[in-house]
Amino acid sequence: MTRVLLIGRHGQVARAVREQASAHEDYMLDVLARPEIDLAQPQGLAERVAERRPDIVINAAAYTAVDRAESEPALAARINCDAVAELAAGAEAAGAVFIHLSTDYVFDGTGQAAWTPDDAPSPIGVYGRTKREGELAAMARCERTLIVRTAWVFSPFGNNFVRTMLRLREQHDELRVVADQYGNPTSALDIARGLWAAVAMIEDGAEESYGVFHLAGDGATHWADFAREIFRQVGGGDGRGMTVHAIPSDEYPTAAQRPANARLDSSRFEAVFGFRCSPWPQALAEVLERLAREPSQQ
Ligand SMILES: NC(=O)c1ccc[n+]([C@@H]2O[C@H](COP(=O)([O-])OP(=O)(O)OC[C@H]3O[C@@H](n4cnc5c(N)ncnc54)[C@H](OP(=O)(O)O)[C@@H]3O)[C@@H](O)[C@H]2O)c1
Repeated sequence: MTRVLLIGRHGQVARAVREQASAHEDYMLDVLARPEIDLAQPQGLAERVAERRPDIVINAAAYTAVDRAESEPALAARINCDAVAELAAGAEAAGAVFIHLSTDYVFDGTGQAAWTPDDAPSPIGVYGRTKREGELAAMARCERTLIVRTAWVFSPFGNNFVRTMLRLREQHDELRVVADQYGNPTSALDIARGLWAAVAMIEDGAEESYGVFHLAGDGATHWADFAREIFRQVGGGDGRGMTVHAIPSDEYPTAAQRPANARLDSSRFEAVFGFRCSPWPQALAEVLERLAREPSQQ
């Protein structure tokens, strides 16, 4: 039986991968995460991975606090780069494939076109830089590595834009949301489906399974329209309508600068692994429906 070792347990993508594991009976899912390991202490992680004897390692753990990274660059680099090098080395020692999640924030955001996996990264913030260094470290330390860049992740779990908007809706009737950053809202449920599709294809040992891929929601938007669609779908039936005012980024200062154009072209992932994320409003409907059914998910 193929052993899949997942790094991370409670993150958005990690939870979605675990949740879907039961539908993939040919695989044994093993998890290595806190408190057993701490990616901020990279030393010895390679051995911890190798001793689990995985066939495939999926790293869904990362330092994801984009703004905080600006004031914690060393910690972000340890988790997003040094620890990744160790995890990849562990995968290599076990003869495993290493699947590593990365981000649209490796790009600088120029232009209007969707970034392809062949475009040159040029990150503009600490988070993006450490993630890019992590990609390079992963590819250097494990021969059979897949970098899967995703974007604007939302899910029924953890902290994300959708849950923040739902919370703000309880307290406000109007909001100012930036409208000059474009990207692809992506459901963690779709990311997990894509990762499981990749796992199944990797088993066939196809060479083209390795390298850099993009896996992001179908369709692009900006944050203000993303917010509007969330409020449109939850509806004003309970009397809590919400007005969204579109503002430029410079009216909403943040510690980290974000790319204006973070659109990702996911066509290579679809061509190789036969999976494409659903149109983001449809993926949003699935997540909102889950949240309505199970509102207490952390
Ligand atoms: N969120 C986004 O919008 C977004 C956008 C583009 C790309 N990505 C990438 O997608 C991947 C998954 O992101 P996500 O949204 O699922 O992240 P998330 O919800 O923020 O979860 C982060 C995960 O990392 C783990 N982690 C953090 N620090 C750790 C440490 N010191 N030691 C061990 N584990 C640690 C957490 O551990 P626990 O399991 O213990 O909680 C959790 O599983 C990441 O590679 C991220 O860079 C995310």
